[in-house]
Amino acid sequence: MSRIFNFSAGPCTLPLPVIEEAAAEFVDYKDNGMSIIEMSHRSKPYDEVHHEAMTLISELLEIPDNYKVMFLGGGATMQFAMIPMNFLPAGQSCDFTVTGTWGKKAYADAAKVGDTRVIFDGKDVNYLDLPDPSSLEVDPNAAYLHMTSNETIGGIQWKKFPDTDVPIICDISSDFMSRKMPIDKFGMLYAGAQKNAGPAGVAIAIVRDDLMERCPDTLPAYLNYSTHAPKDSMYNTPPVFPIYMVGKTMKWLKSIGGVDAATDLANQRAGLIYGAMEKDSGFYKCPVPEAARSNMNIVFRLPTEDLEKRFIAEALEAGMSGLKGHRSVGGCRASVYNSMPVAGAQALADFMGDFATKNG
Ligand SMILES: Cc1ncc(COP(=O)(O)O)c(C=O)c1O
Repeated sequence: MSRIFNFSAGPCTLPLPVIEEAAAEFVDYKDNGMSIIEMSHRSKPYDEVHHEAMTLISELLEIPDNYKVMFLGGGATMQFAMIPMNFLPAGQSCDFTVTGTWGKKAYADAAKVGDTRVIFDGKDVNYLDLPDPSSLEVDPNAAYLHMTSNETIGGIQWKKFPDTDVPIICDISSDFMSRKMPIDKFGMLYAGAQKNAGPAGVAIAIVRDDLMERCPDTLPAYLNYSTHAPKDSMYNTPPVFPIYMVGKTMKWLKSIGGVDAATDLANQRAGLIYGAMEKDSGFYKCPVPEAARSNMNIVFRLPTEDLEKRFIAEALEAGMSGLKGHRSVGGCRASVYNSMPVAGAQALADFMGDFATKNG
């Protein structure tokens, strides 16, 4: 078996013990004579898997009792639509920080549903920097403020969130479980699973009770959060395999020390890669100012596009994949989520040093 260091932005690397355990029990799940994906979602074994995954998320993120954790289909993208449909009543507007590709997409869907106001647009800084959260002028009457905690493509990450009584709704798809969040500032947090939590196919939505009261009865059943919450996300057949894998990934995270350990490891990985850039700062350039740099998606440029192509190709030969920047921005990007071993970041930092020496 040879696994390489996979720096893909998502789907992405998952913890090896999780993959191995899933493989070992795939054909016959715990002596039930069938795999977990072949049994009824109403069966006792699946019910345990489902509720354990939910409980672990609450435990690891220290989610208070007045929030409900839900597993939903349609990825984080479906949440872009469901959020305004449920939480943006007619006659009220919501505020948005548009900080990159994902903030733009969330905004575009909300603008189709109701009244929106952009209180920060990163256009002037090419979506490569973030303002001080205390400078955001949130409308005190806004239904909510939408933010994207980490822009996966631009490689920027909010380190703090504004102090406001308006509920913040935050897309935490690409830094979920990598840091503790001040949960009570948020009306809702949501994430597609396929970065820090498991495979693609499920989104995790964490919604505060008072927002749940806004869900309009007029919505079709699946699109209404109040359909899913009281049924523990079992209103219809849930995405059983992704949820099973999320549960295993959460168990693994707990075993290595939980979210605080994840933060510590994330800082180590990011320190190694940003450090490699700094060491060869005449060769590598990070387009993001230090204060806004993501420690999940690290973007960098080399002196020419040709060198970038060679860097990506030679890194692959050296056992490191997924380093090409998103097609919309080019350059290079190393996505270093919770499951990326520090050894992977070290290997990349070493490779960056060697490559700069050879080509600088
Ligand atoms: C921050 C962020 N939000 C939303 C999405 C969209 O997620 P999905 O593909 O699960 O709909 C992504 C996907 O990469 C993302 O990085």
